[in-house]
Amino acid sequence: MSGAVLPEAPGGASTLASAGFQRVADLARREAGLTIPDTKLSMVQSRLVRRLNATGHRTFDAYLGHVESAAGSGEREHMISALTTNVSHFFREAHHFETLREEILPRAIDRARQGEKVRIWSAGCSSGQEPYSIAMCLLDTVQRLGSLDIKILATDIDRAILKKAVSGTYSEHQMAGVPATFRERLFTGSGSGPDAAWTVRAELKAPISFRQLNLIGDWPISKRFEAIFCRNVVIYFDAATQAQLWPRFHETLVPDGWLFLGHSERMQNSSEGFAPAGVTTYRRAPGQRQPGMKG
Ligand SMILES: C[S@@+](CC[C@H](N)C(=O)[O-])C[C@H]1O[C@@H](n2cnc3c(N)ncnc32)[C@H](O)[C@@H]1O
Repeated sequence: MSGAVLPEAPGGASTLASAGFQRVADLARREAGLTIPDTKLSMVQSRLVRRLNATGHRTFDAYLGHVESAAGSGEREHMISALTTNVSHFFREAHHFETLREEILPRAIDRARQGEKVRIWSAGCSSGQEPYSIAMCLLDTVQRLGSLDIKILATDIDRAILKKAVSGTYSEHQMAGVPATFRERLFTGSGSGPDAAWTVRAELKAPISFRQLNLIGDWPISKRFEAIFCRNVVIYFDAATQAQLWPRFHETLVPDGWLFLGHSERMQNSSEGFAPAGVTTYRRAPGQRQPGMKG
């Protein structure tokens, strides 16, 4: 198959008709829990035209036939990647990082000094600004992590964006939220003017493990978290999918553990064993540590 598909061909082969849009929306919901409203038809069309071109399919019908088939599992991942929204920035929603510094890290560091393992999860980490912001707070609170076993798990469904997160290179514009002291100590600069770029140093990357993980799939997690940052992710899920996540987050947090959501996200029903603890901040109710998972 060959030949570029023109996104603007009205009514032509490259136009995503509503039946095709419904197939995309069904796949996105099934594979990633994403809810895509009809109003996004033209956005979906322009993003997927690039996938048609990349895979050499001349029509949406042929492309969708491929991604729906058993042989299309690799392309399904690319399709989901094309449909996700990856906007992120450093120290987004600064009040969460104040809670991290003032309430969570002092207690966590004490526990780590007594030999416990401490884990924090950035669930839906996108291009890495969130886990690196957590790591900056950590390195600022404890000057040398040394032998303390404190780790950040950073996961996303989208392998392409995870590669960017692992590379840890950001433009001057993206670095806007990073205080100068952190920039000098924990990033290496290169280029100048519009080409200026900053790459995270090994010290900042060391506490973070990046992994691909679908929040609506299995979570191969064995150690409970002190805190979960799942911000600006569930906004793309419907209420039923969100409601399935809360008990799973509850199960993977230590008693008293913290859950942070994005600015326009709310837990509809706090009977899930969480209590509100600030703006888009929830705390798991204290209780016995349950068997099954460590921590
Ligand atoms: C808007 S970004 C949020 C990034 C960061 N948490 C923040 O607040 O800046 C949303 C991320 O959620 C990821 N995502 C969407 N659906 C997901 C799923 N089912 N499992 C895991 N990650 C998902 C997307 O790939 C995207 O990188």
